[in-house]
Amino acid sequence: MYRRLLLLGPPGGGKGTHAERLARELGVPHVAVGDMLRREVAADTELGRRAQGFMDAGQLVPDDLVVGMAAARLSEPDAADGWILDGFPRNLGQAQALAERAQDRGLDLVLVLEVPDEEVFDRISGRRSCPRGHVYHVERNPPRIPGICDEDGEPLYQREDSAAEVIRRRLEIYKRETSPVLEFYERQGLLRRVSGLGTPEEVHARVAAAVHDL
Ligand code: AP5
Repeated sequence: MYRRLLLLGPPGGGKGTHAERLARELGVPHVAVGDMLRREVAADTELGRRAQGFMDAGQLVPDDLVVGMAAARLSEPDAADGWILDGFPRNLGQAQALAERAQDRGLDLVLVLEVPDEEVFDRISGRRSCPRGHVYHVERNPPRIPGICDEDGEPLYQREDSAAEVIRRRLEIYKRETSPVLEFYERQGLLRRVSGLGTPEEVHARVAAAVHDL
């Protein structure tokens, strides 16, 4: 069974949705760097204050803020037997830093959710999130009670980085900065590409098959 997994893909590609479910099924933590950063912003920490402008503009937060935060999370006791890392690394510098820190317990698999740009716009504009990271779509993955998280009853909100021009910038950065990361893992034979199109159930079945069948 694979236990040290990366989930990569474009903004709105479904990383959070599927990483959370897979982590529950495998009994490992879902380490979502974007969610961790949003919690730092909400708590008004020094890191959060430095990160917020980059996030709202759809740019990558500088590596010196992100790498240490991700590494510290992977060192916590609940991550000793594995983890699903969502949205990290996003550039070659971060991939190199992860390789150095994870040397003794290397990666098992890197899954990429492939979703075309027009689908990304639809998904992000309909997305509603809860403060603890659960994710819905108003039409395609709705909560049982509109505006309320099924899991913890928290009110749902729309993220600040959901405006069309910010989504365009995030897509550009994904193509420019993260595509080389996919090639980096492809050369190591770790990469599996999975279509992210279809219902959440259909995509989950593909993700689970890629994890369980290898
Ligand atoms: P982050 O929070 O990681 O954002 P992202 O990568 O842009 O991805 P999203 O969270 O927008 O989408 P997702 O792929 O998780 O899709 P989701 O499951 O929500 O990062 C935010 C920011 O933080 C970055 O821009 C950057 O500033 C900073 N940051 C984060 N990591 C960083 C790093 N390593 N280095 C530097 N900076 C970093 O799904 C989207 C919607 O679609 C939802 O509404 C969902 O319900 C719906 N949906 C999902 N699957 C389906 C389906 N099959 N059919 C229909 N709808 C679906």
